Amino acid sequence: MSESVHPVPEDFNARIGARELDELNDLANADPDRFWLDQARRLTWNKFPTKAGDWSFKEDDFHIQWFADGELNLSVNCLDRHLAEHGDRTALIFEADEPGEGHRWTYRQLYEETCRFANLLKSRGVAKGDRVMIYMPMIPEAAAAMLACARIGAIHSVVFGGFSPDSLAGRIADCDACAVITADEGVRGGKKIPLKRNVDTALETRDVPTVIVVARTGAEVAMKDGRDIRYADVREGLSTECNPEIMRAEDPLFILYTSGSTGKPKGVVHTTGGYATWAATTFDWIFDYRLDDIFWCTADIGWITGHSYVVYGPLANRATSVMFDGVPNYPDFGRFWETVDRLGVTIFYTAPTAIRALMREGDEPVKRHSRKSIRLLGTVGEPINPEAWEWYWRVVGDGRCPVVDTWWQTETGGILISPFPGATEMKPGSATKPLPGIHPLLVDAAHRVLEGPASGNLCLSGSWPGQMRTVWNDHFRFFETYFKTYSGLYFTGDGCRRDEDGYYWITGRVDDVINVSGHRIGTAEVESSLVSHPKVAEAAVVGFPHDIKGQAIYAYVTLNAGEEGGDELRKELVQEVRHDIGALAAPEKIHFTLALPKTRSGKIMRRILRKIAEGATDGFGDTSTLADPSVVEALLAGRQ
Ligand code: WT7
Repeated sequence: MSESVHPVPEDFNARIGARELDELNDLANADPDRFWLDQARRLTWNKFPTKAGDWSFKEDDFHIQWFADGELNLSVNCLDRHLAEHGDRTALIFEADEPGEGHRWTYRQLYEETCRFANLLKSRGVAKGDRVMIYMPMIPEAAAAMLACARIGAIHSVVFGGFSPDSLAGRIADCDACAVITADEGVRGGKKIPLKRNVDTALETRDVPTVIVVARTGAEVAMKDGRDIRYADVREGLSTECNPEIMRAEDPLFILYTSGSTGKPKGVVHTTGGYATWAATTFDWIFDYRLDDIFWCTADIGWITGHSYVVYGPLANRATSVMFDGVPNYPDFGRFWETVDRLGVTIFYTAPTAIRALMREGDEPVKRHSRKSIRLLGTVGEPINPEAWEWYWRVVGDGRCPVVDTWWQTETGGILISPFPGATEMKPGSATKPLPGIHPLLVDAAHRVLEGPASGNLCLSGSWPGQMRTVWNDHFRFFETYFKTYSGLYFTGDGCRRDEDGYYWITGRVDDVINVSGHRIGTAEVESSLVSHPKVAEAAVVGFPHDIKGQAIYAYVTLNAGEEGGDELRKELVQEVRHDIGALAAPEKIHFTLALPKTRSGKIMRRILRKIAEGATDGFGDTSTLADPSVVEALLAGRQ
């Protein structure tokens, strides 16, 4: 195999070099408890914990705890403790959809706005432990809303603005939220997103006592008396001081819904002390953060990446973080680099799908801008193909900036496998090696742990502070989903290869989860949306390789007797999925078929459906267990 190796660029003068990384690994191995408590010292605690991790993955005593007797408040860690020395430092740079339209908030401003929001929530009766939904654009008020929840001990659940009212309603119901914070509208790529209208639609099925509406575009929106509050109307009257609630380390901080291979999205629960330690530690380690850096992670706060590396990780390190409310191709394909130059961005973190989309437009939109401020590049969300990695490195980074390919998940809270930019030789396409204290294992189908170079299912042994603690309202589902397949281990759902140098190469999901543009889509959710259409009998959804998105959605659909498939119905079905889930889950291809390949016991053979969607014409493996083997021929003939 021809793998290129890129040494750490010589003049990349990182705080953590190869020797320091060796030391960290040694410390983590020699005395893990002490190592983790040392990391916890990055935070300011009201009561410093006496113990680090405590977990058991056994079904009858299933729990995970970190720093359990510690007490702290995360908003204090992100704000108050920086004020004396860094109050005038820029905390957030808001970069709106229109280039240059936006503004900055200093740490003091963010602190004051957070306190205002916190006081407003309190005045509406929101208290410690209550759930608050956040359905907002990428504006600084969204970060203030998250921090305000953290301040009063309310549990936030951010829902990406691209999710439909139905999805929002499902999440509100699942966590029994008592308030929604939203904006009048969002604007992305020049297009308006009717956020408040979506909230109103969502609340038709289940209302909440309080909706707070921040003005983003100033559009006229319907307001319901007694429930809806315009933030601008009350802001002046709100105090800019608010006493923080002292939280126990294991008090929940947020719920973030994510798709799995079965059923409805799960509410992934992260708690306060461990999550905060992990976000702060990994931000510092992997992004080699310095006081003058301008850090830009392009993710939306609706995803875990936005939680950990737009808001909590950077702010806990009193960094300057860019909140970008636009898209990579608006107003043109040079947008990222024009913005990098204008803001002086030094660390840039984005998704492979964005890199591939930009790569297709050629080098000119990149070269048109200087990018000389950038010193470090990162990627996250899906495997990056070596061609895209090389382009990112050579064209965007001019061959002088390390590229950190960071592997992690909503469930892991923060980065687990990644190069250290000043210490790890890079291999394009590999997330390289685990962080200190992280223990990946490869396991085969027979549950054997594989040694040395091998391919298998990626598991983690032991725990780390940022690990999720439970599925909201369904602790057993947490156990079943992640700890049942391989007893005593956390199973990631990813396939992976480890090479002769101990480098990890993530090959993608091995479960029924599709990674579309770095966003997780559960096949079961899309299928249940498709079959809710009156003409549809059955649906089976798989992923197939897509040049830009990484994977896209291919849906096989059988219709009720007498119904006919065609482009009209395809449109209706796409509309159905957009309505039920959101545009991001819309199938790229819909294949009407008379039958699905099933075993005699009625189980759909997805392996065959995946092959056909990929474009294979043979190599379907053993088809003798199919109830009707001729269905394969018919499917091949109808491929989309
Ligand atoms: C899944 C997690 C991590 C925050 C964004 C996505 C895939 C993520 C990488 C990477 C290869 C990656 C995995 C993982 N993934 N990063 N660097 N290389 N694959 O979070 O929605 O929870 O998805 O994204 O398949 O399991 P998520």
